[in-house]
Amino acid sequence: MCGIVAYVGSKPVAPLLLEGLKRLEYRGYDSAGLAVVSPGGIEVRKSVGRVSVLEDKISQDPDALSAAIGIAHTRWATHGQPSEPNAHPHTGKTREGHEIALVHNGIIENYACLRTYLEGKGHTFTSQTDTEILAKLIAELYETDLESAVQKALHEVTGAYAIAVISAAEPHTLVCARKGSPLIIGIAEHSYVVASDASAIVSHTTQVITLDDYQVVKLCAGKRDKYTQEQGLWAVEFRTTTIDNVPVTSEVTELEIDLQQIELGGYPHFMLKEIMEQPESIRNCLRGRIDHREGRVVLGGLTDVTRELVRAKRFLFTGQGTAYHAGLIGEYLFEDLAKIPARCEYASEFRYRNPIIEDGTVMVAVSQSGETADTLAALTEAKERGAMTIGAVNAVGSSIARVTDAGVYLHVGPEIGVASTKAFVGQVAVITLLSLYVGKRKYLSNDAVSEYLKQLEQVPDYIQRVLDQSDHIKSCVEKVVDRDNWLFLGRGYNYPVAIEGALKLKEISYIHAEGMPAAEMKHGPIALIDEGMPVVFLATKGSQYAKVMSNIQEVRSRGGRIIAVATEGDEQISRYADAVFTIPPMPDALQPLVSVVPLQLLAYHAAVLRGHDVDKPRNLAKSVTVE
Ligand code: M6R
Repeated sequence: MCGIVAYVGSKPVAPLLLEGLKRLEYRGYDSAGLAVVSPGGIEVRKSVGRVSVLEDKISQDPDALSAAIGIAHTRWATHGQPSEPNAHPHTGKTREGHEIALVHNGIIENYACLRTYLEGKGHTFTSQTDTEILAKLIAELYETDLESAVQKALHEVTGAYAIAVISAAEPHTLVCARKGSPLIIGIAEHSYVVASDASAIVSHTTQVITLDDYQVVKLCAGKRDKYTQEQGLWAVEFRTTTIDNVPVTSEVTELEIDLQQIELGGYPHFMLKEIMEQPESIRNCLRGRIDHREGRVVLGGLTDVTRELVRAKRFLFTGQGTAYHAGLIGEYLFEDLAKIPARCEYASEFRYRNPIIEDGTVMVAVSQSGETADTLAALTEAKERGAMTIGAVNAVGSSIARVTDAGVYLHVGPEIGVASTKAFVGQVAVITLLSLYVGKRKYLSNDAVSEYLKQLEQVPDYIQRVLDQSDHIKSCVEKVVDRDNWLFLGRGYNYPVAIEGALKLKEISYIHAEGMPAAEMKHGPIALIDEGMPVVFLATKGSQYAKVMSNIQEVRSRGGRIIAVATEGDEQISRYADAVFTIPPMPDALQPLVSVVPLQLLAYHAAVLRGHDVDKPRNLAKSVTVE
């Protein structure tokens, strides 16, 4: 939610900032802006809408923005509607009259009292944002240098922030800090690129520092005497401190992504690319984790905590949105394969109850980004109450990955499309591995584990068999895409898949869809069914098949249009369904990994047919870093 990019170095900054903003646009796209330090002071440009609108605006005055230090932002509105005054950067003036400009990702919770204080000091506000308070507070506290003004200001704020700040008084300095929102510093040759995530950095360098909470980094362009004539580049230097000004040694790590992974590669949308690359991404997720010779799961990240996992009395999955749905599948897997009680809770609800964490509770936080604020907060709460915590996270080095006691990365590669697809299948794959890892050490026989592992390894090929039906799925969707109300129904393992299918359709095609257990339909929602209403059934062969078939009859006899996800070779289903998408025969426990894929394609085609921007659905952002 909101993307930040900043640059210090030798090259003209505006094109670099715009390139970075485009890479981060999936984090928020209702307005954008940038600020640079030029000889005449700070130049700010803002616009409402996509980054391309800002780019058009800037193309009219490129010279004004040819500085070598700058900050930029793409916004997902929290405080104040999308408008130019509310777009970042926000500015403040020091007592000496020097301008400060700041971009921010996060929320300043005590903004109201700080605003009253700053208005009393003579500052005039031009936006409705919480961020402007921070810009003015830094300006108010500025005495001799930007770094200490930022440190002092951050002592006064509560909430979450990742910030990048420049000052006209120090034209060679950029100061950044974080608490609760991500910020990465890329170290390129004679330049630094700061960004909310690696996608805006990887085209410059793979060497990065991930800032920790309450850390501040000061990045400086070198003075003229440090100018390296041979290379024609500015020298640069940096130092990291805590907000109490205690120096910190920052560890430089290597980014694991390459540029190709974050490009469209010929696909019209990232969502389609990510759906289509699932066979490969799931192969990557499983690679090295299945030992057929020993018939066991290898999860290096859990070696130190295996004893506690096996002794655990209860597993508690948590996450939001799609990640929550993956956690729900964890309930079934753990009770089925590991015979340990398991529950999945919305992270946002868990935190605001008075949750009882018994001895022997393991919380598994499920997240693609590893930055979802609610999930992070639930994790912290569970930890404080004595739970052991495990991460099932995609983004390497993200906050959730760092806060948990141990974890298993998804390794499905960066996910850019706002609608989560390959990450969901990766999350379910990791939870499946985890349940087999624990199950084998408890009740599951060696033969059963070996059989599951054999089947699991087939999943990439099974997914490919669904992907090959994409054109068929599209032509079925064409017939019903004008309908505004849909139901998605499933039982057992396929119930979470039904609600995930409904979420996919809602978020990118803006069609109202509800997912629920198939049996629940009779307790009320059946009243909604009228002639031609699309009802998507997860009707695969397995323990729930006969019951789901009865539910199909109930809908059919009321005029509903049946779209079924069924098992290859099922001849009965085509007698009752108007459209059928198939998955290969497989055990109940592994079906969600494949049965969700036709629903991803269904949602994708519906959104494209309705003319929507699939990768940037309205009102959404990829990563929700506010509660
Ligand atoms: O990054 P996370 O997996 O923690 O994100 C959780 C949800 O915000 C996310 O899954 C969201 O529901 C997606 N837009 C679903 O497609």
